[in-house]
Amino acid sequence: MPATAPDFMQPVLDFLGCTTPESWIQAALTDLPTLLQDHANCEKKAASTAMNMMFRYNDRDRLQDELAQLAREELLHYEQVRDLMRQRGLGYRPVSASRYAEGLRQHVRTSEPGRLVDLMIIGAFVEARSCERFAAIAPHLDDELKRFYTFLLRSESRHFQHYLGLAETYAGTSIRERVAFFREVEQALISQPDDEIRFHSGPPTLTPVRAGALASATCP
Ligand SMILES: [Fe+2]
Ligand SMILES: [Fe+2]
Repeated sequence: MPATAPDFMQPVLDFLGCTTPESWIQAALTDLPTLLQDHANCEKKAASTAMNMMFRYNDRDRLQDELAQLAREELLHYEQVRDLMRQRGLGYRPVSASRYAEGLRQHVRTSEPGRLVDLMIIGAFVEARSCERFAAIAPHLDDELKRFYTFLLRSESRHFQHYLGLAETYAGTSIRERVAFFREVEQALISQPDDEIRFHSGPPTLTPVRAGALASATCP
């Protein structure tokens, strides 16, 4: 995290098990068009996921209020990423989803309220990681993208807090152990090498050129 990182980033960093490896940043910078398309996809998916939960849990007032606002903000972010792509002459390109979200969701419990609590905890990790990645890559980008990603930090950190608060509200008991479990899963997903660069991918697959950069990763 840069020395000038805002205070609201600290809870995000405390929540996550590790920070983004330098090798991911370097790989991401070599393919910004793919990263932007993946980012657009992630924003649209974040809105869709929030709305799916609104339909599934119709009777939960707090969830309806907070996820309705969250879904609107994710769609706004989606529009903003598309505007940036359009200004740069980047049209739609097919970019497959990373293994990240599915890797988390496969551990969701099947009975309630465990399922709801797990989905909220996963939402918190996805938002926190997005926020951490925006902060990690922002200083390396051109002024326009730097402004955009810095602007996104505050809303994504707020989304993280909303999901975590909802998990606590509906659990009816401590979520500490479940958070610790998903922290380990998330850390493993973000630490394992990936062939393709995505916003939630691991470090690039080891090549002789990248071996040195990977040594500086802060994930164990
Ligand atoms: Fe967003
Ligand atoms: Fe978000």
